Amino acid sequence: MEKNFKRTLITTALPYANGPVHIGHLAGVYVPADIYARYLRLQGREALLVGGSDEHGVPITLKARKEGVTPQDIVDRYHNIIKDSFEEFGVTFDVYSRTTSDIHTETASEFFRHLYDNGKFIKQTSMQPYDEQAGEFLADRYVVGTCPKCGFDGAYGDQCEKCGSSLNASDLINPHSALTNAPVTLKETTHWYLPLDQYEGALKEWILDGHKEWKTNVYGQCKSWIDLGLQPRAVSRDLDWGVPVPVEGAEGKVLYVWFDAPIGYISNTKEILPDTWETWWKNPETRIINFIGKDNIVFHCIVFPAMLMAYGDGYQLPDNVPANEFLNLEGNKISTSRNWAVWLHEYLREFPGKQDVLRYMLTANAPETKDNDFTWAEFQARNNNELVATLGNFVNRAIVLTHKYFGGVVPTPGKFEAVDEAAFADILTTKTELDECMETFRFRESANRAMEMARIGNRYLQETEPWKVAKADMERCGTILYVALQICADLAIAFDPMLPFMGAKLAGLLGLGDIDAAARGKGHDVDWSMIGRTDLVKPGTKIGEPELLFEKIDDSVVAAQLARLERIKEENTIANFKAEPQAEDVDFETFTKSDLRVGTVLECKKVPKADKLLQFLIDDGLEKRTIVSGIAKYYNPDELVGKQVCFIANLPPRKLKGIVSQGMILSAEDANGNLVLIAPSAPVAPGVKIG
Ligand code: 2FM
Ligand code: ZN
Repeated sequence: MEKNFKRTLITTALPYANGPVHIGHLAGVYVPADIYARYLRLQGREALLVGGSDEHGVPITLKARKEGVTPQDIVDRYHNIIKDSFEEFGVTFDVYSRTTSDIHTETASEFFRHLYDNGKFIKQTSMQPYDEQAGEFLADRYVVGTCPKCGFDGAYGDQCEKCGSSLNASDLINPHSALTNAPVTLKETTHWYLPLDQYEGALKEWILDGHKEWKTNVYGQCKSWIDLGLQPRAVSRDLDWGVPVPVEGAEGKVLYVWFDAPIGYISNTKEILPDTWETWWKNPETRIINFIGKDNIVFHCIVFPAMLMAYGDGYQLPDNVPANEFLNLEGNKISTSRNWAVWLHEYLREFPGKQDVLRYMLTANAPETKDNDFTWAEFQARNNNELVATLGNFVNRAIVLTHKYFGGVVPTPGKFEAVDEAAFADILTTKTELDECMETFRFRESANRAMEMARIGNRYLQETEPWKVAKADMERCGTILYVALQICADLAIAFDPMLPFMGAKLAGLLGLGDIDAAARGKGHDVDWSMIGRTDLVKPGTKIGEPELLFEKIDDSVVAAQLARLERIKEENTIANFKAEPQAEDVDFETFTKSDLRVGTVLECKKVPKADKLLQFLIDDGLEKRTIVSGIAKYYNPDELVGKQVCFIANLPPRKLKGIVSQGMILSAEDANGNLVLIAPSAPVAPGVKIG
């Protein structure tokens, strides 16, 4: 821990308000940031957690176009969903605002104007992507094409969402317009550029020499950007949605979203602290920490710091940027547009009161050093084996036994024995490790260290067996339960930043005071430094009635979530299906030669020694005919008897596995590649012709 810092400003990447937030956002940014803020506040360290919605840029206008509504409609809708769901999830933002606020427009305009007036920009005319058909410039995501790095077909003109590479529209293979699909042409336009090359030396010194302690993924990305040589970067765009460029001759131009969004951190601080915001931004005793995902590294470590350097006036640079890697869902990349996500607002609706279960899962499985996978099976296992069987079970045993033997009143301890001293010592050692993890943003291991305290508690009860001791020595039993209750209190505090709902409940049960207020920086009954103390829960305190902190999650819950994802996969396959080009025209006479009919299935059975084939006996209105069809993998023959099918009646008979097939039954491939039979939508007489 740096000694010179008096306060910490924690910023969280501003999510685009083009959709709700999902588990990828949470695991990457908001859960770790909230853990860290709560951890600092529980220590009595001054912290400010700043967030807000990113409401400008092409992601917003693209979504608005897709839905046929205005960008303002989109941001109003999603900002509110996002804000409310963060609150319900227990993210303790001191401010959660938006970049369409007046104060942000003023702040971002002033920032641009200041750089402009001080000659910090260069003005350049260049050829930029243009859509002739739409008559519009194609900024950033309006250009779509194939990623040169990973071959992904839907890469954007600013970034490939598949491999995370930062791109320029000119890098894309086969670039076309996201508006009309037209091939991209080029047209001359003028923009303002921040000459990043002029800041290369300062950035190198600041990061590569000065911040070797940063996470390897972050340091490595910065090093490769700087080693490649920095280029001037455009800070304006030809768009009609955004903060207007505040200089003359800039009609139709707005600030580039990545110029205005990080300034949002400043405007949001100003909004909540209009008189003292500068203390958080311009005072060297303030430490700034930016929580972001890996695709935001270049903007937070290179572009925004260069903007702050260009502005001067005492603006401080971040002290750390603990960016996370990506979280996948059941083996596939999370995607807003493909609905491949677990959405926070939906989770809160489907799992009421289970905020901590998701917080725990996302912390214990956080993508801190590599991309990780979220699976519902792991969600269930971590809940059932760790939260219920380890943490909940220990706390429950200690509380139930205190009620059973001491009427729910914390007993006065006798002299501590070696086993008691050892348990306290183990807790203290684990706390030191936990502190170290928290200070270095290793929250995954923090969850493990806190769970270790519950394991210490379980081992302690296993070893001391108070239920047996109670038969002969009530005083010793009281000492054991006293120790166990101290460990419960340790757990309430140690877990609180990660599991604040559990922390508050357990602290309440033990009469520890308002831990939630402490973790929100609003009062100080309980303090992080108390973990490991031997007198946290006072003798004579009446503790609450035992209640389960966590409940088991059934297999059916997991099955329902997996079924939902299967449905989404099917919807995506159907939505992305590309129909084959139409076959050559046939004249009407040729068409009428085909005899297509409806028939009723009289019998149906598997063809021996042929996995794929079913043998049908069909009532075709004239007689009974046999048809062999390759759909055995998809249907149980018994289910088909009595059903109606469509078939081609006048194909020449064909022998299949020794059976003469008199026609062909019609089927089509569904989203999963399975064949489904084509049938009339209401019963008709067998033999009716189709046409
Ligand atoms: O990647 C994103 O979702 C951006 N909206 C993050 C912006 S972070 C900050 F600069 F505001
Ligand atoms: Zn790619």
